Amino acid sequence: MPKGLAGVSVTDTRISKSASDGSLVYRGYPIAELAANAGFEETAYLVLKGKLPTKTELGAFTKGLRSRLDVDRKVFDIMRDLGKEAHPIDVIRTSASALGSIDQEESVEGKEMSLEAKMSVLAANCLRVPRGEDPRRPKEELGFSDNLLQMLTTRKADEYERWVFERVLIFYMEHDMNASSFTVRVVASTLADPYAAAAAGLASLKGPLHGGANEEAMKMFLEVKDPAKAQEFLQSAFKQGRKVMGFGHRVYKQFDPRARLCKEYLREMLKKRRGDDSLYRLCDGIEKGMWEAKKIPPNLDYYAAPIFYLLGIDVPLYTPIFAASRVFGWMAHYNEQVEENKLIRPDAIYVGPAGLKYEPIESR
Ligand SMILES: CC(C)(COP(=O)(O)OP(=O)(O)OC[C@H]1O[C@@H](n2cnc3c(N)ncnc32)[C@H](O)[C@@H]1OP(=O)(O)O)[C@@H](O)C(=O)NCCC(=O)NCCS
Repeated sequence: MPKGLAGVSVTDTRISKSASDGSLVYRGYPIAELAANAGFEETAYLVLKGKLPTKTELGAFTKGLRSRLDVDRKVFDIMRDLGKEAHPIDVIRTSASALGSIDQEESVEGKEMSLEAKMSVLAANCLRVPRGEDPRRPKEELGFSDNLLQMLTTRKADEYERWVFERVLIFYMEHDMNASSFTVRVVASTLADPYAAAAAGLASLKGPLHGGANEEAMKMFLEVKDPAKAQEFLQSAFKQGRKVMGFGHRVYKQFDPRARLCKEYLREMLKKRRGDDSLYRLCDGIEKGMWEAKKIPPNLDYYAAPIFYLLGIDVPLYTPIFAASRVFGWMAHYNEQVEENKLIRPDAIYVGPAGLKYEPIESR
């Protein structure tokens, strides 16, 4: 049995496909094609519905999201009660569960849109509200990506930076049978509602082998700081047998196309600032050292992290941003699963003992 189901296909899907040669398509469109041309809502519509929207369809979809941005005060009260020590993903997961009992949406599509719209507000507030600060509210007139960015940071991003942030969100939106999407499909296959499925997806996303890697990569950059220390850092990590966060992938063995694009954006962002480019040199140095020593390429998390850092976003919010975007992919998987449903209930090879005789507790 392949460990971690590596190489095992668990379903047919029409949503997206990543491959070891470094290709990624959403509904048939190469990721670079979408990054160069599409906006966030347009891509979300594509991922969810399977085709690019017309202007009218896009308008209705955007309006549907905007009209569901308002998060009930009760959810913020729950967030506050969790307290400042709570992990941001635990805060969002608990809030997503709470939405399931508070939301008044009737249709499945309404529930999904509510989650998609509100997850961005939860992500932006999962650190500040438990600390006792007031929630930051979305602005109805802004697009999804600009709205999320303005709630995440008080720093004013320029046009290029806003464009880059939107690209990173597009990259985080969907990635075929990743751990959290598979989790969502398992829950969907029991016919539980989208809130339950999203809460389960969030639980999967918390681990550093999946969603938590962008934060860990940034902590590493902040720890090493000096590009001249990149090799020394790697040698010490190898000696301790530690995994280097932001490297490796179950599918991409040559390169991750999203990381390649993000690396270009990072370089351009720093070039436009005409200042210190040591962060880029550090990332590049660790990347080269890792490739030389282990032939392991960086993944999206590795280059998304320094972009978020330059945008002035607090490090604990990096995984919540991932969640705010990935929820659209999760809902596409939820729908695909339910449309052709069969309860996901695999088998396991039993390798434990058999035929044991019960021994009373007194004589054990
Ligand atoms: C993503 C990840 C879980 C994929 O793992 P996987 O397909 O199960 O592959 P494995 O973890 O078994 O790794 C295969 C080999 O490469 C090594 N490897 C993989 N990622 C590594 C990393 N980030 N640092 C150091 N070594 C790594 C493993 O130690 C293993 O070596 P071995 O065969 O000598 O034991 C893994 O690469 C990882 O833990 N990366 C760091 C976390 C991360 O960035 N996650 C975000 C993913 S998008």
